[in-house]
Amino acid sequence: MSIKILLGVSGGIAAYKAAELVRRLGERGAEVRVVMTAAARSFITPLTLQALSGHEVRCDLLDPGAEAGMDHIELARWADLVLVAPATADLMARLAAGLADDLLTTLALATTAPLVLAPAMNHRMWLNPATQENLARLRDRGVRILGPAEGDQACGEWGPGRMLEPGEILDALVLGADSQLAGRQVLVTAGPTREALDPVRYLSNRSSGRMGYALAESLAARGAEVTMVSGPSALAVPHRVELVAVESALEMEAAVMARIGACDLFVAAAAVSDYRPQATAEEKIKKNQAELHLHLVKNPDILARVAALNGGPFTVGFAAETRDLEEQARTKLAAKGLDMIAANLVGGETGGFERPENALLVLWPGGRRSLPLGPKARLAEALSDLIVERYLADAASQDS
Ligand code: C5P
Repeated sequence: MSIKILLGVSGGIAAYKAAELVRRLGERGAEVRVVMTAAARSFITPLTLQALSGHEVRCDLLDPGAEAGMDHIELARWADLVLVAPATADLMARLAAGLADDLLTTLALATTAPLVLAPAMNHRMWLNPATQENLARLRDRGVRILGPAEGDQACGEWGPGRMLEPGEILDALVLGADSQLAGRQVLVTAGPTREALDPVRYLSNRSSGRMGYALAESLAARGAEVTMVSGPSALAVPHRVELVAVESALEMEAAVMARIGACDLFVAAAAVSDYRPQATAEEKIKKNQAELHLHLVKNPDILARVAALNGGPFTVGFAAETRDLEEQARTKLAAKGLDMIAANLVGGETGGFERPENALLVLWPGGRRSLPLGPKARLAEALSDLIVERYLADAASQDS
């Protein structure tokens, strides 16, 4: 199945490079549809990009003719990836503000697909605090920024602001067979579990599922076939990720074990309840006793079970600790026989459950790396990079 890329072109001189980008995306098997801003049309004609993409180029939000075909919401849904190249300072400002004042910004708001920007502008505009603030806001929302490069500028000056060359953008996008995880099966557990006490009550925890969902999304963006077994979460299912919805730890275990045989990489980001009620009452428990004693039994450790499999996948676990982070995580890495563990301190100021920010200490046999405090989407990107790096190194050492 070819990847569907919505290419947004905004109005800077680098817009002329969009023509080559469309052609080369097509060569790599992508299906491309182009949306241009009004200013972009001063630099390159829609006809050029229509001829290269093989599809009508969309420019206006309020175009009854075009909307009668694939309307803008359908177009937003159609895309597997939204790439804006070039992204001007003005476009970045409008995206950062969440404006929907033309077709491209409206699509960026309406899509759930990953958004990637290749900025291009004068170096002083790039370095201006206003642009840098917009950049930080966009990054914090999980928008991927490619470049810009430093060098000669169309205005005759020199500095950061040149759009990356189409080839560099393609390499960074890791499309199709070139993608680092193409053809690899990844299983991610995410969210909390619910352990039923009776038909209306359950034991659970405060996990939002954010880290697991963000990891599933960024691993899918690296070309993997990602299945996510998730407990109840209010989050939207990331693009290109297959969801298997479960409630209890036993359901999660069954869903994982049924799929683990085909799996290359297992990431256990779920906050699995350690215990469950020994029995679930069939009827609602009445409050007619002064005290109520719950008899809890231990849930299976899904991660340890997967790590113990013969010839099993590369396993990545998490550890949430309130103290002695490195020591506890190192012990857990060895005890569960994991390939990697991402540990974070909880209960302090550094993040954890229900917070949008987190910091991680990542350990593997013989190595460690600290990922500093940041929004979970950005942290998930950094952790995905590290997981891919270690996984590929491990796979290569097994091949040799
Ligand atoms: O031992 P601890 O609960 O701290 O380990 C946390 C790690 O183990 C997480 O990666 C979590 O997803 C996983 N886990 C599991 N099954 C359990 C408990 C934890 O997969 N029953």
